[in-house]
Amino acid sequence: MLEPLRLNLWFADGGVVSFKGFDYPTRMVVVRLADGGLWLWSPVERTAEIEDEIRALGPVRNIVSPNKLHHLFLGEWQAAFPDANLWATAATIVKCKELRFSGVLADGAPAEWNGQIDQFYFTNSPFMDELIFFHRASRTAIIADLSQTFSATFLKRHWPWWMRSIAKLSKMIEGWGYPPIDYRISFRNRATARPKIRELIGRHPEHVVVAHGEVVRTDGEAFLRRAFSWLLQ
Ligand SMILES: [Fe+2]
Repeated sequence: MLEPLRLNLWFADGGVVSFKGFDYPTRMVVVRLADGGLWLWSPVERTAEIEDEIRALGPVRNIVSPNKLHHLFLGEWQAAFPDANLWATAATIVKCKELRFSGVLADGAPAEWNGQIDQFYFTNSPFMDELIFFHRASRTAIIADLSQTFSATFLKRHWPWWMRSIAKLSKMIEGWGYPPIDYRISFRNRATARPKIRELIGRHPEHVVVAHGEVVRTDGEAFLRRAFSWLLQ
């Protein structure tokens, strides 16, 4: 189930979850840090298979939620790896009172992955705070909801025609990678977000792994310029 993208970075696709009545595919990322410990991003539903594959890669030390919508499976991973740190944004911690968090994430990585994975924190929408990550060694940007790349095949299989039209018009599709229209419209104080996106692009990402849609395997930098053209222009 785990697919290697580059050395020390894997992703795995989970099941489809329902959000506001629509099917969303799920995806997690696993990074092996310099000390051999694993960093899990947005874990998908835990199965024995995927847990075994991850255990074979090394000790799980950090479990990371990128935003408050990506919380569904945090508890079951924390139960499986009780010694791992659990990290999330402020809004997620407020929402998930039943979970034990090790710390709140914002701009500036904690010591556990500082210098290896960069993070960019966005609080521009009143409905969402979200982190984008960048794994330096593999030059991979890791994005939950701020860029979505649904394939025509997935949309045809899972979404009604009228919603497919909205997805296409709002460019939350493969090749464009915009966020959903409500997220984009509610994104305020854009001047504060632009330097962060420019810094991310300035790191020359080669790959972009999104939670929802197709993985961008080459020229991630050009992809991100397009995916955030709504913000940067
Ligand atoms: Fe999401």
